Amino acid sequence: MHSEVFLREPSFKQYMDLEEGWVDRRIFSEQTIYEQELYRIFARSWLFVAHDTQLPHPGDFLTTSMGEDLVHEEYCYDSGDIDKTSLGLKQVAQVGSYKGLVFAAFDPEAPSLESWLGDFRWYRDMILDTEEGGIEFIGGCIKSESAANWKFGVENFIGDAYHVGWTHDSGARAMNNGNPFPPIDMNNSYDASINGHGWEFSLEGVGDLVFLRRPKVLDYYNEIRPKMAERLGEVRAKIFGSVASASIFPNVSFLPGISTFRQWQPKRPWKFELKTWVIMNKAMPNNIKKEITKGVMQTFGPGGSFEMDDGENWENCTHVNRGVVTRQERLHYRCGINRGVEEDPVFPDILFLGQYNDANQRNFYQRWLNMMEAPRLADLPERWKPPLSWYGNSGYSCRFPGYSCIGRTPNEPCRNTTTSFRHTIIKTDFRPGTDFVSGSKVHG
Ligand SMILES: [Fe+2]
Repeated sequence: MHSEVFLREPSFKQYMDLEEGWVDRRIFSEQTIYEQELYRIFARSWLFVAHDTQLPHPGDFLTTSMGEDLVHEEYCYDSGDIDKTSLGLKQVAQVGSYKGLVFAAFDPEAPSLESWLGDFRWYRDMILDTEEGGIEFIGGCIKSESAANWKFGVENFIGDAYHVGWTHDSGARAMNNGNPFPPIDMNNSYDASINGHGWEFSLEGVGDLVFLRRPKVLDYYNEIRPKMAERLGEVRAKIFGSVASASIFPNVSFLPGISTFRQWQPKRPWKFELKTWVIMNKAMPNNIKKEITKGVMQTFGPGGSFEMDDGENWENCTHVNRGVVTRQERLHYRCGINRGVEEDPVFPDILFLGQYNDANQRNFYQRWLNMMEAPRLADLPERWKPPLSWYGNSGYSCRFPGYSCIGRTPNEPCRNTTTSFRHTIIKTDFRPGTDFVSGSKVHG
């Protein structure tokens, strides 16, 4: 697909050196690069198009865009009698879904959705699968426009923990009895990344839930944590609600404890449309759903106190980097560049210790570069990742009092007398908000 585009265009390697830790500012402002992003990234990637709860009945449909191309997503149970090619509509080549999130790709050569998402699903289940029945998108979405490049939004959510303390300081104090955001614990927080997707997270279990400013929601999640542990294992049940944010390559982001889900739709090099949804578990009682909706509107809706802070950053970053002189300079992405990859038996993907880190941004731009460079998606470089089968799914009875095991496969018994690789133990006396997961130890 688009092979002629690749033959006549120059290499994009000149626009970044991720070993050195810099990105060329022109990728945020130049129309020619933006056009190539639409061809090489948006016309070839798996893109989020809908959640299945937005299309509950046969014949329901919605329009959205894939890049700048408008598309029509519908509940197709009994709509097969319309030949859309006769209407001059382009059909997407592939459609797939993961736990209700529907993705589509124009490119018939795009790899399977499963391999595209990779083990990032381990993290994403912390918003999609914390309760029986899964999630729902509540009615409608909020659209807003920002005079900013789409990538600034995505990278803000993929791992920008260090902006929080100063960008959101006044908002945090206003909403938290004058108290600032607590500093990040660099020994108990991580950046995780795979295929350009990224999740940055701490382990305390309550940070994002506290800043939703809805105590009933915090209580609700603490009540269901034991059941969450049955579904997702103890680790994910404990860390859910921590200060965390995430993006799915190329243009979807969410805050796992704050229940906002959003998509950055490119419109120009210096303009995006942001679509924001409130998501919640179907099984939640109505009063909790209402609390979550109000909480999202007050924090990360377009009028929310924190979203307004961030919006100013996205626009100012774009404006500053657009200057014809300034755009010739490099933009610094070196934070944490000397920190190595952690080989942690609990957390999947390419993992870095310490939430103040540009690691996820560097990995996002690595994927951006790979997509811009590869004539065929089959040529995308494989990046090292631990297989999902390393990670157990539940807490197991363990011979060590006060610990539980995370086995290699569900229901694997404690084998702490063997040298079983990746058979780990996690302290179970963890208390959300007051304690940290103790780390893991390999049995043997
Ligand atoms: Fe922010």
